[in-house]
Amino acid sequence: MSENQLSHAQTPRKILITSALPYANGPIHLGHLVEYIQTDIWARFQKMRGHHCTYVCADDAHGTPIMLRAQAEGITPEQLIEKSSQEHQADFAGFNIGFDHYHSTNSPENEELAGYIYTQLKDKGHISRKTITQFYDPEKSMFLPDRFIKGTCPKCKAEDQYGDNCEVCGATYSPTELLNPKSAVSGATPIEKETDHLFFELSHFEDMLKEWTHKGHLQTQISNKLDEWFESGLRGWDISRDAPYFGFQIPGETDKYFYVWLDAPVGYMASFKAYCAKSGLNFDDYWAKDSDAEVYHFIGKDIIYFHALFWPAMLSGAGFRTPDAIYAHGFLTVDGQKMSKSRGTFIMARTYLDHLNPEYLRYYFAAKLNSRIDDIDLNLEDFVQRVNSDLVGKVVNIASRCAGFVMKKFDGQLASEWSASAQAVYQGLANEAEMIAELYEKREYGQAMREIMALADRANEYIAETAPWVLAKEEGKEKELHESVSVGINLFRVLITYLAPVIPATAEKARDFLKLDGWNWSDVQQPLMGHTINPFNALLTRLEMDQVNKMLDASKQTLQATAPKAAEKPAEKTQQAGSVSYDPLMEEIEISDFGKIDLRIAKIVNAEAVPEADKLLKLTLDIGFEQRQVFAGIKSAYEPEQLIGKLTVMVANLKPRKMRFGMSEGMVLAAGPGGKDLYVLSPDEGAQPGMRVK
Ligand code: 2FM
Ligand code: ZN
Repeated sequence: MSENQLSHAQTPRKILITSALPYANGPIHLGHLVEYIQTDIWARFQKMRGHHCTYVCADDAHGTPIMLRAQAEGITPEQLIEKSSQEHQADFAGFNIGFDHYHSTNSPENEELAGYIYTQLKDKGHISRKTITQFYDPEKSMFLPDRFIKGTCPKCKAEDQYGDNCEVCGATYSPTELLNPKSAVSGATPIEKETDHLFFELSHFEDMLKEWTHKGHLQTQISNKLDEWFESGLRGWDISRDAPYFGFQIPGETDKYFYVWLDAPVGYMASFKAYCAKSGLNFDDYWAKDSDAEVYHFIGKDIIYFHALFWPAMLSGAGFRTPDAIYAHGFLTVDGQKMSKSRGTFIMARTYLDHLNPEYLRYYFAAKLNSRIDDIDLNLEDFVQRVNSDLVGKVVNIASRCAGFVMKKFDGQLASEWSASAQAVYQGLANEAEMIAELYEKREYGQAMREIMALADRANEYIAETAPWVLAKEEGKEKELHESVSVGINLFRVLITYLAPVIPATAEKARDFLKLDGWNWSDVQQPLMGHTINPFNALLTRLEMDQVNKMLDASKQTLQATAPKAAEKPAEKTQQAGSVSYDPLMEEIEISDFGKIDLRIAKIVNAEAVPEADKLLKLTLDIGFEQRQVFAGIKSAYEPEQLIGKLTVMVANLKPRKMRFGMSEGMVLAAGPGGKDLYVLSPDEGAQPGMRVK
């Protein structure tokens, strides 16, 4: 079902919504909260529209990092995940994330469902067994995930790189290619060891997936990215891990466990199943192949592969329905930069809650979010300014300006008759209900916030024009005064209704003040006439930069106290040997970022092999005004002589890097997966060494 068809549904829809399941070995931070706030707004909105909407989540409790973390803390994995679950749930509650149910992937429901799905896939011939060679830590007697092996990058020779990719040159490789590999768990030199693994044959689902990914279930940016993945071929997905592993034993196997990413998405179903038991909902109504319910997964753009390929294939192979949509969002930056521990901008949910009201951040994120996967920026000065001018200045102020008059002069009672012009003002705001609903439905929250603030401006103009504080001082203007403040309170009610999915705690206080039963989207069509309200108490106070700075200071301190140890750091997001390669969407950059790269035409005046390095050639490059020495990992594709005299393109302002064989003073551009398939870029005729590439 496409998003547009959903917009004006009259009969209540059955909707199941999920957010990605956070790992049980780390605290929730503001980066996570983009997603939970985005999802929670959508869930609250659907509920206000009268739909039957369920929002579930769970802790993602399995995998090597969790097992090792528990060992490091001297507790059992079960104790660790229990503690984590409590902390996560307290953080989520603090931010008013209104899950209907919060579960764990380490639960009986999940074990049963994961086992069932696997068995279905196996019975239908979608599981195969292959022998792979993997690194093994002889001291710890365990196979090592890629992220738990460190060594020297085979391409640029940077030291201390993870087993799957190099953070210096960006190369991706398999851990067996690392030079001088070491186990990040024990420091031992790992040995290569053969083991049998089970693979889910994704290629069996190629036709199904090609169709599914182009039927409106994904954002366009994502379907396009998936086309690239289809082009590079769907390979089997390694779904098993050897003991010791914290996870579920694979039925019918000895000492083999499901890879954490196999049972993680099943956790969505498991959480819902547990919710069914307590709420009386029927699991099959939502998950059977012919279900008429809607299922939506909100995720970050880094885990698209799992959700847009593996997950629909698993579901369809096991005879379940597939999701209606996967909604991906971008990452969070703070003041335009990646969250940073040293600047204190890597802010934990708890640190934020210790200092600031969660409603501020919910509003700010809403104002920044849209339906695309662009990153969003928390600009701290803008945050303060926007919260104060919009929420406090434009919205809450209306109630505080009018409420006193209603209480003092009219005993808390709103007028029961309005003039035609007052009705017109009210109607002007109430008539926008559908337009705003449509923006929420499409996840265009930023646009929705702008529209709501434009309506708030109109409400403030009405109050400024009718000037109740002037009327209050004049004789015989009671009726006008009563109308002005009653309409003002009603306009406030409309605005809070529209904002209720975003600032639920403030809406709850406003509900009390307005003496209402609840917030329904359609209620704004009926103004409150002759209705009695309660005395007004401050709903939201102004935010001061000083409070934000205090939070940043506290954040710096918290991070110093809790910096993770090396072995705990890796997240198990990347793939293991034999699985498909993971290609996250590249982040968009500004033209100004691109402008920072000084690309120059370079003439290769000399090229020679570096005897001690299998993959490197030492190039001497002439860039017009000087010569540079660059080590390039292109030996597998070129004989040195082939390159001499050739023009190419180099990054001329890359910081020089000291390598074992000498300084590398730049980087040559080449394309291709590697090995023999590597092509040095060369310019068209006419280009001269030193020319800037623009
Ligand atoms: O990337 C992550 O943080 C994973 N724990 C998300 C899992 S989402 C779902 F598949 F369970
Ligand atoms: Zn490298």
